[in-house]
Amino acid sequence: MQDGRTTLSKFLIDTLDRQPCAAGTAQNAGLSALLIDVAAAIKSISAMLTKGALGGHYGSAHSVNTHGEEQKKLDVATNEVFVQHCEWDGLLAAMASEEMERVYTIPQHYPRGDYLLAFDPLDGSSNIDINGVVGSIFSVLRHVDDRPADAEEPVGESAFLRPGREQVAAGYAIYGPSTMLVLSVGNGTHGFTLERDIGNFVLTHSNIRIPAETAEFAINASNERFWEPPVRRYVQECKDGRTGCRTEDFNMRWIASMVAEVHRILMRGGVFMYPRDSKTPGMHGRLRLLYEANPMSFLVEQAGGLSITGRERILDVVPHTLHGRVPVILGSRNEVERIGRYHGEYDRGEDQPFTSPLFGRRSLFLPGFTA
Ligand code: F6P
Repeated sequence: MQDGRTTLSKFLIDTLDRQPCAAGTAQNAGLSALLIDVAAAIKSISAMLTKGALGGHYGSAHSVNTHGEEQKKLDVATNEVFVQHCEWDGLLAAMASEEMERVYTIPQHYPRGDYLLAFDPLDGSSNIDINGVVGSIFSVLRHVDDRPADAEEPVGESAFLRPGREQVAAGYAIYGPSTMLVLSVGNGTHGFTLERDIGNFVLTHSNIRIPAETAEFAINASNERFWEPPVRRYVQECKDGRTGCRTEDFNMRWIASMVAEVHRILMRGGVFMYPRDSKTPGMHGRLRLLYEANPMSFLVEQAGGLSITGRERILDVVPHTLHGRVPVILGSRNEVERIGRYHGEYDRGEDQPFTSPLFGRRSLFLPGFTA
């Protein structure tokens, strides 16, 4: 570029199409074009959101998604934007979305490609009506299909059920005061800011690194009574601050939009937790593996952070269903390692029950406690 800036297209062509090493030139043919289509969807959504209440998209769509959650008009509209921008280009075999119960196979009148796109078109949508920060999250897998090419046959759910470490690209858009696209194709995590007047994403945050140390955590504390003891132990120690065993004060944040929380962590470090809990029987986590936890874990790991369920690396979890959920603990490496260690100690019965009198394993709040 003449002005020395790197646009998203230039970055992708340099990274994917001209570097034999990075993600593999021939192996990832078309990936840059696919990501440019995803970016086009994000620009449309950004324009839609900027109109706010004037755009006529606020309020309920009077429908529920596959999770039984009420869909907002914007959930439906942004899902449609993703589908329309990405279905035609001949690069995708299928798509999966939080807002679509089943796999969306590319219609027969378009050529079928080698990739699978999973996305949450509007993350944190409870923030919409308050003009708060929301985002879009996406994940790209290579379609591994041993069957003879047959455009008639729909792509099954099983095509998407691959561990997150196999992602070839992942990213999110954050629609805040500025719109940013944060992306990884496996060679670090990079942030692009939308220059609205021209319509380009420009590289502004190259090779983002998450500091290993932090004194900031994010969790929905209203669920505290449903958490497992290792999470209660960790949070209590943070809250005890400099008077407790951590001997320093911690800060807490909660925006109720995973995109906004992960973005903060990529910018300045921290820990985000939506841990396993007992709030809803049979549902041991809140966040969806395929299009929330996996792409975010990929970005966090590519930025030097860690992402675990508490007991295993999220990118190693093998999905069983399209919309399956998983506990998520991610962010600054040293703190995530500590929380993982607390889970291990708890599982082995080795934790210190009375680190804090109310929140140890034999806490006042746990069944079986006899004072
Ligand atoms: O569905 C996902 C999500 O909106 C995340 O973006 C966010 O972290 C979380 O749910 C908010 O959950 P809660 O409503 O419990 O604060």
